[in-house]
Amino acid sequence: MNRTYRIDDGRQTLVLAARNDRLPEVVYWGACLPEDENLDTLHAANVIDVTGGMLDENPDLSICPEATRSFPGQPGLIVRDTDGTPLLPKFCFESAEQNGTLLLSYKDAANGLTLTVSFVSDPETHIITCQTTLDATRPVHLHWLAAPVLPGPQQSDEMIDVSGRWCGEFQLSRTAWAPGMRYRENRTGRTGHEHFPGLIVPCRGATNTSGEAYGFHYGWSGGHRMIAEELQDGRRQIQWGHAARMETEPSTQFKSAPLYVAYSDRGLNGCAVAFQRHLRDRIVTWPKPSAPRPVHYNCWEAVYFDHKLPVLQDIANRAAALGAERFVLDDGWFGNRDDDTRSLSDWTVDPRKYPDGLNPLIEHVHSLNMTFGIWFEPEMINEDSDIHRAHPDWVLGSEDQTLGRQQKALNMALPEVRDYLYERMSAILSAHDIDYIKWDHNRVLPMPDAAQTRGSYALIDRLRAAFPNVEIESCASGGGRIDFGIMQRTQRVWLSDSNDALERLRIQHDAALFLPMVVTGSHVGPRHCHTSGRHLDISFRAWVAAQRHMGFEMDPRELDEVETAVLTEVTSWWKHNRHWLQRADILRLDSADPAVIAEQQLAREKDRFVVFAGKAATSSQIAPRPLRLTGLDPDAMYRVDLLNRNSLHLLSRGTPALKTDALELSGTYLMHNGITLPWSFPERMWVLEGHRL
Ligand code: DGJ
Repeated sequence: MNRTYRIDDGRQTLVLAARNDRLPEVVYWGACLPEDENLDTLHAANVIDVTGGMLDENPDLSICPEATRSFPGQPGLIVRDTDGTPLLPKFCFESAEQNGTLLLSYKDAANGLTLTVSFVSDPETHIITCQTTLDATRPVHLHWLAAPVLPGPQQSDEMIDVSGRWCGEFQLSRTAWAPGMRYRENRTGRTGHEHFPGLIVPCRGATNTSGEAYGFHYGWSGGHRMIAEELQDGRRQIQWGHAARMETEPSTQFKSAPLYVAYSDRGLNGCAVAFQRHLRDRIVTWPKPSAPRPVHYNCWEAVYFDHKLPVLQDIANRAAALGAERFVLDDGWFGNRDDDTRSLSDWTVDPRKYPDGLNPLIEHVHSLNMTFGIWFEPEMINEDSDIHRAHPDWVLGSEDQTLGRQQKALNMALPEVRDYLYERMSAILSAHDIDYIKWDHNRVLPMPDAAQTRGSYALIDRLRAAFPNVEIESCASGGGRIDFGIMQRTQRVWLSDSNDALERLRIQHDAALFLPMVVTGSHVGPRHCHTSGRHLDISFRAWVAAQRHMGFEMDPRELDEVETAVLTEVTSWWKHNRHWLQRADILRLDSADPAVIAEQQLAREKDRFVVFAGKAATSSQIAPRPLRLTGLDPDAMYRVDLLNRNSLHLLSRGTPALKTDALELSGTYLMHNGITLPWSFPERMWVLEGHRL
């Protein structure tokens, strides 16, 4: 007897089918199937042929491929008994339930194992969330457990995964499908700059705005493994799970993290919008959901460790005058923290810098109508700290391990470590009016350890339960801990330590494949960038920050009159528009000019949009090429206007109509011909507003 199941969300259908009592395979995933499609026929139609040199029947590429059924590729589960004996499971159907969630359970009686997989679809965000759980009748050792295994599309030549580095997050790597594996394993113990757990598989010919694509994201902050494997018979499988051997203790239950997947028939943007909406509307829990996102000021690049109350008060005055609404006191306020060699874990206010405590600064910030946020790096410890002197045994890893930024990590699996951190952090939060934590994590772990990640999650969850109005920003030397697991507990990510607008433009563009505007922190950096040495024009710096959750991080005392005016104006534009921008979709545009990195933020109601066209380099041709928009109603008319035409340079001598007037153009024209922008220098941004008439 065949067993079949289907999941529909109005944009995609996913069909699972199993022969008799075996584990099911995903036999179809793509555009919506008709309601009356016969799933048994579809299952039968999906069977691939057998010829010479093959087994007499092709092993199932199931949701957890089994080595015992002669599966020739990576199995979905590798598990051992406590004495080290490998267990080779062969699962048999146990139960199926479909009530919104599809829940399928399979038993391997001989080994005492139960495998349960769940699929949850969301008709609004078009994300399917799936997860695997393994139960055992006695403790067993886990080496590898894949979230439900999905087929890689056949109509695809390449896959796009994400790597990066400090100040260079979200770099997209394209790899051609070929026999064998694309195997990425993150053993750093945190999500990492190097390994954002995301994958986009475009079908042949797909672009940002058209064609088919499949998106994957593994929602876990402790390090993962991704396998994209093409078998000899041509079938492809995609597996995600925690990094192998992260579970150091035997247990009777293991779970993969949730795997979020989406099919798109509207290019890479279909996947991007699904992830953006799901993250914003389903994953993040907002203390005040309808409150506008405040403009931030962060003092790190202004003062570093050199905290002086009058200076910080002066900076706060200037930040507020520019339009800031939240002041974040970064590293340097605690212990003896005069540089990054000491005091991590000594979470008491430094009396040398703050003889009357933090309240004089907080009260000053409040008097300027800004709220107050504060920096912590809870998982970390310096050897030169009181806590290390008292509890060297609280450290994760060996005594002689290599340090990272002169620091070690605390062992978050220890309840006494979590209790200590909770007690110190809650003492600070209770004694002060603080509504924000910037939660940093500046080194990789000495080894991957799932208990460490669960310990961090438990501490955040406990603090959030006690202080439900405090928001948290996830930072790890910039974008080293960004994933849906941490985002279930936080409201913002510090995307990168690079405040270089040119680099940010690219990082933001590629991160938008997964991240919405509303969680993505972006600050206007100093005139002379501290991490790249570039000098960038204030208008470019301001508009790049205005593409996301806006803030400032330069020393405002360096601003001249023109810079102050530009920054105030752009900030005011952002504040006037944030009510719709924070719910808008970011659509990456297919720019005909590789020097132009462009996106369109389209309101949920589709009645207005803004286009940010950033010129990242000098174009090879002399005049700008038209920029095609997307997602508009072809028959509707739109009024489009160049918002910052005051940035026109006198070297732009021609007469493109946009230089002087707003234009009324159809969706068809805007999407098929595109809009022709004026000439500009590189490192400049054109901002175009559009309204449906
Ligand atoms: C690394 C972060 O990414 C920076 O923004 C800053 O908070 C420093 N840590 C502070 O040590």
